[in-house]
Amino acid sequence: MSKEMKVTIVAGDGIGPEVTREAVQILEAIGQWNGTRFQFVEMPIGGVAIRQHGSPLPASTLDAALDSDAVLLGAVGGNEFNLLPPDKRPEAGLLQLRQALGGFANLRPSVAYAPLSNNSPLRPEVTDGANILFVRELLGGLYFGEPRSWNRESGVALNTMRYTRDEVVRVARIAFELAQKRRRKVTSVDKANVLEVSQLWRATVTEVSADYPDVTLDHQYVDACAMHLMNTPRNFDVVLTENLFGDILSDEAAVITGSLGMLPSGTIGGKVNLYEPVHGSAPDIAGTGKANPLGAILTAAMLLRHSADMEQEAQAIETAVQRVLANGYRTADLARISQPDQQIVSTREMGKHVFEILNEIIDCNQAMHAV
Ligand code: IPM
Ligand code: MN
Repeated sequence: MSKEMKVTIVAGDGIGPEVTREAVQILEAIGQWNGTRFQFVEMPIGGVAIRQHGSPLPASTLDAALDSDAVLLGAVGGNEFNLLPPDKRPEAGLLQLRQALGGFANLRPSVAYAPLSNNSPLRPEVTDGANILFVRELLGGLYFGEPRSWNRESGVALNTMRYTRDEVVRVARIAFELAQKRRRKVTSVDKANVLEVSQLWRATVTEVSADYPDVTLDHQYVDACAMHLMNTPRNFDVVLTENLFGDILSDEAAVITGSLGMLPSGTIGGKVNLYEPVHGSAPDIAGTGKANPLGAILTAAMLLRHSADMEQEAQAIETAVQRVLANGYRTADLARISQPDQQIVSTREMGKHVFEILNEIIDCNQAMHAV
């Protein structure tokens, strides 16, 4: 029986549309394979939406997102908006969308892909085999805590890092459950030597861990964790963090992979799951064909895994990406002078290579099932 899937596409700003187009093409190939009828509904968000509708998240975009099986986002943000207050910026549209969709667990895998082992400034013997899954709490902490303000007269600005026990419990459960399917280790990140909110975090995570006796839990202060991630990335399996720490550490962990352009993410636990690559809108390279679409393509794989129960299809995409890298194709961010065999390709070409290898994998799979 063929399945229908309505996916709202909010490609957004900068390189968002370029990389999202390649991810959609990959989902279409999957639809051809397994009969899923994808309905893609394109809606504006971020700077594009401010220009067209005067709001970074128009009501029609939010309605479409809430009425879909999954949302795929490109990126938001642009230099022309840099002087606006936080609530008027393109980023506000993304934060409002996250809040409305309700997903509180943002999964950010960071994998040291073998063909890219010379891309990281870290030595291959440090990164080889590293495979970390960040579980970043996405709806609490400084991003959403009240009060918040900037009083220009008094020269005082204020944000609030706030968590409730329940908010920590629900994201911790996701981290432990995911760890059970991996190497059964959770590292919880906090700053419990200074912050009350981190003491609540640590106590709550410890309490939740009692329900998962097969998973090892350790706690690290965020500053130490930032260092250990670079020194011994293989020691990490699942890393559980609050919102801002997760934002910072996941960009840092891009160093393990070799480029921020490689990192996908998916946010689960709410009404509708939201999928977005970790990289931003990169206005400096928008429209030049230099953007790396692999983060967006791997994000599409996460969408299939977490919103469509299509593990086999998700893995086929991940395998295709690895083979394309093994074949030497590199977007500008992945190019290295030390690698003479590499072939530098554009965003579109990279997407096409993944598409072709994916179709080979699909053909091979169908041939196997035919005998
Ligand atoms: C990310 C981004 C966003 C965040 C911005 C664009 C609001 O940096 O997804 O990591 O801070 O969460
Ligand atoms: Mn970020």
